Amino acid sequence: MAKPVTQFVCSECGAVHKKWTGRCESCGAWNTIQEEVPLASGPSKRALGGAKGRRMALTDLASEEAPPPRTLSGMAELDRVLGGGLVPASATLVGGDPGIGKSTLLLQAAAAFAGAGHKVVYVSGEEATAQVRMRAQRLGLGGATVRLAAETNLRDVITTLEAEAPDLVIIDSIQTMWVDTVESAPGSVAQVRASAHELTTFAKRRGTSVILVGHVTKEGQIAGPRVVEHMVDTVLYFEGERGHQFRILRAVKNRFGPADEIGVFEMTGGGLAEVANPSAMFLGDRERPAPGSVVFAGIEGTRPLLVEIQALVAPSGLAQPRRAVVGWDGGRLSMILAVLEARTGIGFAGLDVYLNVAGGIRISEPAADLAVACALLSAREEAGVPPDTVIFGELSLSGALRPVAQAENRLKEAAKLGFTAAMAPKGCKTGDAGGMKLRLLPDLQALVGEVFGAG
Ligand code: TYD
Ligand code: MG
Repeated sequence: MAKPVTQFVCSECGAVHKKWTGRCESCGAWNTIQEEVPLASGPSKRALGGAKGRRMALTDLASEEAPPPRTLSGMAELDRVLGGGLVPASATLVGGDPGIGKSTLLLQAAAAFAGAGHKVVYVSGEEATAQVRMRAQRLGLGGATVRLAAETNLRDVITTLEAEAPDLVIIDSIQTMWVDTVESAPGSVAQVRASAHELTTFAKRRGTSVILVGHVTKEGQIAGPRVVEHMVDTVLYFEGERGHQFRILRAVKNRFGPADEIGVFEMTGGGLAEVANPSAMFLGDRERPAPGSVVFAGIEGTRPLLVEIQALVAPSGLAQPRRAVVGWDGGRLSMILAVLEARTGIGFAGLDVYLNVAGGIRISEPAADLAVACALLSAREEAGVPPDTVIFGELSLSGALRPVAQAENRLKEAAKLGFTAAMAPKGCKTGDAGGMKLRLLPDLQALVGEVFGAG
């Protein structure tokens, strides 16, 4: 029988290599390749077929299961992102850039849960208790019944938690924790993984909800192995542009609720304030609509959201004209420029193109294609789009417009905010359209004709 071939697996991305290397060719991580001996194929002593294991009890998929109980913080935006409150015995990871406001958010959340009658422990590995206390006072939370500790040794943390048995533990941050059985520095992949494992198993064992704070690397990933994201039930990202007051809490994974749900906050002198009506907020300081500015009727999670998309097109002095994007995907912009050129003959060669989603929010919906195309056309032709009009729809490479989901909700939100007309792809299920004047377009040519009277 052939000897099983040893393989080398990256602990970061799971890529399989034939030989050991210092750096994973697949994800670029250093020192993550580990040797693994695969099980032999076919019958052998190593395979499990021979020896008897314990027989599992199989159950029916159709059996009745009650939804998990939920703990509400009373911070509506946070509860919404969690899928309707925090689930007991769950582990949640909150990632974000340094300084974005994670500690502020979680201190406010800790106080809110404590205020709702839950036993909350906040463990800070980054700040002394005096610092956390001062922050709490600045936030007006000085009187909250949150139990506090500054500690990085996870053995001590777990021992304390076993004795205290709180309902909720917040660990700020997972990168500062270290396990004394693992011989590497705090913040290393091995330590972060071991710490996260200890804390998630503690959560399951004792029925405590655990929230871990994680820093994000320059590449936008939570530092440490991806494995942490797999270990926890819920992964939330706290994002926002520096210099903007808006902060978005986004669920990227949620075992107990919808992913892609967002909560909107505003960073103020007194901490994070919830924004209950984000559309009004994002359009609030909208100036007189200029060429290149259009309003996109989007959906974030389960909630409609109107945002302004701005484009600027200017003659370029560069051999390779500039393509700059804030709040949207750069590759998708290139695609839309190419489709515009190929299907309508309106080209952008020799022109710098800037695209900006106002307010510092990031949009990933393909439904924004049509709004982006319209902003680009409007900027290129210096023709304004009527200010009472919202736009949404997906663009295919052929130049045809594809219907998108939840058209009726998008239109209702727009009507609520005083818009009276909409441009959308033909075939959208628009219902009564909230009383809006609808232009349902089959393709890009129709859009050009509609907006600029050309054809
Ligand atoms: P912080 O919560 O410490 O960020 P993180 O834990 O993600 O690193 O937030 C730090 C920033 O928030 C800091 O630059 C100051 C700002 N901030 C306010 O604007 N208002 C406030 O009330 C607080 C507490 C912080
Ligand atoms: Mg912090």
